[in-house]
Amino acid sequence: MPHINFTTDLIDFIARAPTAFHAARSAGDILAGRGFVEIHESSPWQPLPPGSYFIRRNDSSLIAFTLAGEKPSLTGLRMAGAHTDSPGLKLKPIPGRINHSYLQFGVEVYGGALLAPWFDRDLSLAGRVTWQDKDGAIGSSLIDFRRPIGVIPSLAIHLDREVNKNRSINKQTDLVPIVMLLEDDRLPDLNTILLEQLVRQYPKISPAAVTDHELFFYDSQPPAFVGLQNEFIAGSRLDNLLSCYALIQALLDSRTRQNSLVVLNDHEEIGSLSGTGARGPFLQSVLERLLPKTDERRCCLSRSLFISVDNAHGVHPNFAGKHDRNHRPLLNYGPVIKHNANQHYATDSRTAAYFRRLCQRAAVPVQDFVMRNDLACGSTLGPITAAELGVAVVDVGVPSLAMHSIREMTGSRDGWYLYNALKEFFSSSGPDDDRPESSPQ
Ligand code: CO
Repeated sequence: MPHINFTTDLIDFIARAPTAFHAARSAGDILAGRGFVEIHESSPWQPLPPGSYFIRRNDSSLIAFTLAGEKPSLTGLRMAGAHTDSPGLKLKPIPGRINHSYLQFGVEVYGGALLAPWFDRDLSLAGRVTWQDKDGAIGSSLIDFRRPIGVIPSLAIHLDREVNKNRSINKQTDLVPIVMLLEDDRLPDLNTILLEQLVRQYPKISPAAVTDHELFFYDSQPPAFVGLQNEFIAGSRLDNLLSCYALIQALLDSRTRQNSLVVLNDHEEIGSLSGTGARGPFLQSVLERLLPKTDERRCCLSRSLFISVDNAHGVHPNFAGKHDRNHRPLLNYGPVIKHNANQHYATDSRTAAYFRRLCQRAAVPVQDFVMRNDLACGSTLGPITAAELGVAVVDVGVPSLAMHSIREMTGSRDGWYLYNALKEFFSSSGPDDDRPESSPQ
């Protein structure tokens, strides 16, 4: 069963990517291992010979592309994107506090996290630290404690008998992880703790002091197959590392070399407005450097399709009424095309038809989703990319449950299905009628 191997590798990818930084680094390592050449925004790169390349920005977002030889202004680019970040708890700049002999680390809530599942988890800590060497030179490195170092214990039910009826969570006071029990009232120095971890991980560098950090707590329990027949996977960050992994693998495994591009953006969960987010200039600036002539760039974009890949809401058996009755995606029934009249998803009938045909050609089932009118619809980087570039977009993603929980759930086949549909996209050279054109025919 090939989906088992694919999903096992996906689980491994997610376990090694506790933060957007680690996800971008892992994606880059996989690409480099398969012959993609890393190029840098700080050096000139015109003209690039045909080949495969990738660029990282801020260690947390990545663009990979293949130039096939034919002009992209004539062929268009097969583009697709996903996001590297997930909701979570980010360490405050000065997090340490002592409370009844407990050392606790204050956190900020990053993105739209479902908070209740963060209690009683074995939490680890990972992210980027910035340090100085003895000469004052600044460097930064990714660190990951890789073992449980903190926990946010629930309050015992005996101390709050009403908790199962109505529970609210105060983000400032209720969500402060405990990381240590102290024997005196001296506050341990966080930067020293981080320096020790840094040196453990990178024995060859010689930092004198850690000065700053961007660290996130995460669930140290790795993702796993679940279900009597391993039908499901449960794990953190399935939204949206599942899509990142499927995209990278599909690009690598395409049967033929086409002009194609994958973008993995950071900061989707907080609205995408940053230098590395979809509202920022990352993709635009790469396209400008690939196609410096405005006219050629516009021709390319009008011949291109962008597949925005992000998890969708599968129907929850205990809450099926939360879905429109005709649009109830099931786990393991294939990727979902997302529709929204108000452009929270950028799909139109032509881009949907195109994706549906990709699935047909890849022998992959496909489903449709629209939000109920009486519930607010989420969004993705699809409409943002459509608005920034004017490119045709289809919004798709695997159905999932418990989205934005610390432990989400998807079908164990759906990542494989998604990968196969995307591989078909990156493999097909097809005549012009294969792509949705910008003008009606
Ligand atoms: Co998402």
